[in-house]
Amino acid sequence: MWAIFFLIILIPLAIWGLSFAPWSPTHYSDIKRLQKILKCKKWQRFLEFGCGDARVCHSIAKHNPKIEVVGVELAYPIYFIAKLKQLLHPLPNLKIELGSGFKKDFWDFDIIYMYGMPDAIAKKILPKFWKEAKKWTKLISYVFSFKDIEGNIKNHEKKNKKTIHVLTK
Ligand SMILES: C[S@@+](CC[C@H](N)C(=O)[O-])C[C@H]1O[C@@H](n2cnc3c(N)ncnc32)[C@H](O)[C@@H]1O
Repeated sequence: MWAIFFLIILIPLAIWGLSFAPWSPTHYSDIKRLQKILKCKKWQRFLEFGCGDARVCHSIAKHNPKIEVVGVELAYPIYFIAKLKQLLHPLPNLKIELGSGFKKDFWDFDIIYMYGMPDAIAKKILPKFWKEAKKWTKLISYVFSFKDIEGNIKNHEKKNKKTIHVLTK
């Protein structure tokens, strides 16, 4: 029984985690800060890259019913949690997808939120962002900063809280 659990849940979770980041959720209090920082406009499209249990994209969609929100998650056990949440609290402007965020075209979004590992951000996300994103697209990194890059970066710090980093192209 435990062997099956390891094989179908834990080992894949570890492998998926290497692709971008293992599951570790954004604190609820920081989602409130994020809402204040972003002040989403109704024409904007929001992507959560690696949405985990969808707490961030669900909150964004709930508080901004006019904007289109997409959450994409690679690990199916966590994706099912996100889908269950959507089933229990449906929001017409929220889409949760199973798959790799690297397959999404960043051009389609005005705000991209992520909580990823620094190495994956530097080597995989930033090149994709520079190549595909629109001029005004905001890339938000929870906790980890954008290191050694040129660009319009704002680091939103608060005592005893994680920093929210915003990069605009
Ligand atoms: C640190 S967690 C953040 C979860 C959520 N964004 C939050 O802040 O609460 C990173 C998530 O990205 C997922 N992930 C890893 N690689 C991915 C990929 N290539 N595409 C989509 N999701 C990925 C992981 O399974 C994990 O749920």
